[in-house]
Amino acid sequence: MGGTDQPAIVQLAPEDARAGLVLSGESHWNQNEADWRFFLRMAMVLGIRDGDARLIATAALLPYSPADAWISMVLVTASRRRRGLATRLLAACLDRAAKLGLTAWLDATPAGAAVYGPLGFFPALELRRLRGAGAAKGPRLGSDGNLDEMIARDRHAMGFDRSALLRELGGRSGSRVISQGRAMAMVRDGRTARHIGPLYADDAGSAAALIETVAQSESGPILLDVVNERRQFLEHLAGAGWTVERPFQRMRFGRATTVNAELPFAVAGPEYG
Ligand SMILES: CC(C)(COP(=O)(O)OP(=O)(O)OC[C@H]1O[C@@H](n2cnc3c(N)ncnc32)[C@H](O)[C@@H]1OP(=O)(O)O)[C@@H](O)C(=O)NCCC(=O)NCCS
Repeated sequence: MGGTDQPAIVQLAPEDARAGLVLSGESHWNQNEADWRFFLRMAMVLGIRDGDARLIATAALLPYSPADAWISMVLVTASRRRRGLATRLLAACLDRAAKLGLTAWLDATPAGAAVYGPLGFFPALELRRLRGAGAAKGPRLGSDGNLDEMIARDRHAMGFDRSALLRELGGRSGSRVISQGRAMAMVRDGRTARHIGPLYADDAGSAAALIETVAQSESGPILLDVVNERRQFLEHLAGAGWTVERPFQRMRFGRATTVNAELPFAVAGPEYG
């Protein structure tokens, strides 16, 4: 404990996946064990344990490019909140990002934004998490989309390459890349719901039509993280019965590094589950 009464921050390892899943499940997040395993393999995942070695807090820094990294999985168990644990973990992630010369991005829940604002994060894109339900009038769609094309479009939109992430998400047994004309989306498993994203399309109508096609072939709950500027698409979805579950605020710490040449309709990353 380094001479203070603060519990130590430790780097987590693949065997912490189950404990991480308990934490994200406690916050009703949709990540599954495969998402945690991806983080524990590809990211620096920091954690804090209590006196019984139970994992009580986490934060991850996932470098995507020589200039950009994503902070996510910022979680503190309910009984240990408001004691500065998230702030300490964030400071450790930012310290590592600074040493590597990385701009840090994250997608904040309202509670998270209250922690990150005072640390110097600036708001960027606004997102809305929507929940819908599959209407399963047909069998689940097979993958007919081209993952390489999705990766290229994602690079154009994000301003950096996420091929390792998209190949991992797209390669799982429950994952599909679906295309309809120029619209394309990934659909994958989560802990409690299927997740659609990223979704790229040329216009709101074709994005909404693709969602309709996917929903007709899925049963059970579906989540979608929509870029708030895509107003017409959001209106389509509201009309089709999708409800807004919560906002997310994309935030940036450090210099602007990327030019977003294409705005997605819906986003994806392991942090969304
Ligand atoms: C958000 C979360 C990680 C914060 O963890 P924490 O360890 O309690 O945060 P800290 O103690 O470091 O909080 C630092 C400051 O942020 C602000 N803050 C933290 N949680 C807040 C909340 N729920 N509402 C308003 N302000 C909040 C306060 O100003 C707090 O300082 P104070 O306690 O002295 O008033 C935790 O509530 C959590 O796990 N929530 C569920 C998952 C989640 O939303 N994660 C964020 C993902 S982006």
